[in-house]
Amino acid sequence: MADARDAKTILVTGGCGFIGANFVHLLLRERPAWRVLNLDALTYAGNLANVADVAGDPRYQFLRVDLTDAEALQRALAGVRPDAVVHFAAESHVDRSILGPEAFLKTNVNGTFHLLELVRKWPGCRHVQVSTDEVYGSLSDTDPRFCETTPINPSSPYSASKAAADLLVQAYHHTFGLDTITTRCSNNYGPYQFPEKLIPLMVINSLAGKPLPVYGTGRNVRDWIHVEDHCRGVLAALERGRSGEVYHFGGNAERANIDIVRQIAVTLTGSDALIQLVQDRPGHDWRYAMATDKSERELGWAPQWAFDAGLRATIDWYVQNRAWWQQILNKDYLIFYDKLYGGR
Ligand code: NAD
Ligand code: DAU
Repeated sequence: MADARDAKTILVTGGCGFIGANFVHLLLRERPAWRVLNLDALTYAGNLANVADVAGDPRYQFLRVDLTDAEALQRALAGVRPDAVVHFAAESHVDRSILGPEAFLKTNVNGTFHLLELVRKWPGCRHVQVSTDEVYGSLSDTDPRFCETTPINPSSPYSASKAAADLLVQAYHHTFGLDTITTRCSNNYGPYQFPEKLIPLMVINSLAGKPLPVYGTGRNVRDWIHVEDHCRGVLAALERGRSGEVYHFGGNAERANIDIVRQIAVTLTGSDALIQLVQDRPGHDWRYAMATDKSERELGWAPQWAFDAGLRATIDWYVQNRAWWQQILNKDYLIFYDKLYGGR
């Protein structure tokens, strides 16, 4: 689609969240001629501190808009003609989707629909739908990895809402000829991840000497990818992906949860004594694993981070950026945390 030397306008949704903020940083660093519009509602997970360092950059603009409000969205983008939309904005946490699915349907399904209706009005605009391995459901320990043709079979309200959005994107490609790409990625880790997700939660609790709650047996497996590798993949798909196609990203780092938590605990406290096995997540998917041959072949992409080095760098980031997560812990997050973990 875009040549790195041309001036392009990229609309990034959810650019104040974890992956979106890392993507905004990547674009401004590696595509100096591009203009970035960051559209975000600033929900509990959106944080202007994640993009504070680029706020004064003349190539960057922030728009506070809620995708669930179609009229507000149209008003905010009147007169804007992006060359591409990279759609990260979503409700993203599985446990929250179990406590309250509605926000997931509103943002992930209706919000995507509102955005697609706008993209239809922008001739030549490419829509990149940032999706997840969770739309495929769960693997056993011996199943082959998910590939792009694996049937969609989501299990949580979160993954069902993401799958619905993916199908809408596919329908808009087939019916209206929209130039779409869908990317599906495994579990991300790295700087700016909200401390409700496994790795930052365990780092912060270890630093505070608090219990490390591991669901069920702790033997559930996730494939971990550094957020920089995911963002490079999304950029490669935006620039080189074939219209209508799905591309996978994964880190080649399948790990059982308990092994990761132990690695973090031992690094920060010298022992695993804080680990507590707690009641399992309802409907907890057992294993995810991504085949990434197609992205490697067609996009020339491959993950650069080895898991142990990436985890170490991430732990160091949280140690060095206490003020960032302290500010989050002082807010709404604690209410959710008590509600969720109080009963376990
Ligand atoms: P996040 O929860 O950290 O950030 C989500 C961002 O979206 C926040 O800034 C939030 O304010 C914004 N947002 C939420 N609802 C909105 C609305 N109605 N209107 C506008 N903005 C809204 O999420 P993340 O972990 O950065 O995930 C980003 C995307 O990547 C999501 O689509 C997610 O499904 C996908 N994904 C995440 C992972 C992962 O491991 N985190 C893996 C694969 C795919
Ligand atoms: O696979 C991609 C998905 O990864 C993304 O689509 C989601 O947006 C993202 O949240 C993530 O989903 P998970 O449910 O896999 O991530 P989470 O960090 O919540 O949990 C990772 C694993 O760790 C999972 O098996 C549940 C377990 N877990 C999680 C928490 C928060 C625990 O055992 N204890 C915990 O306290």
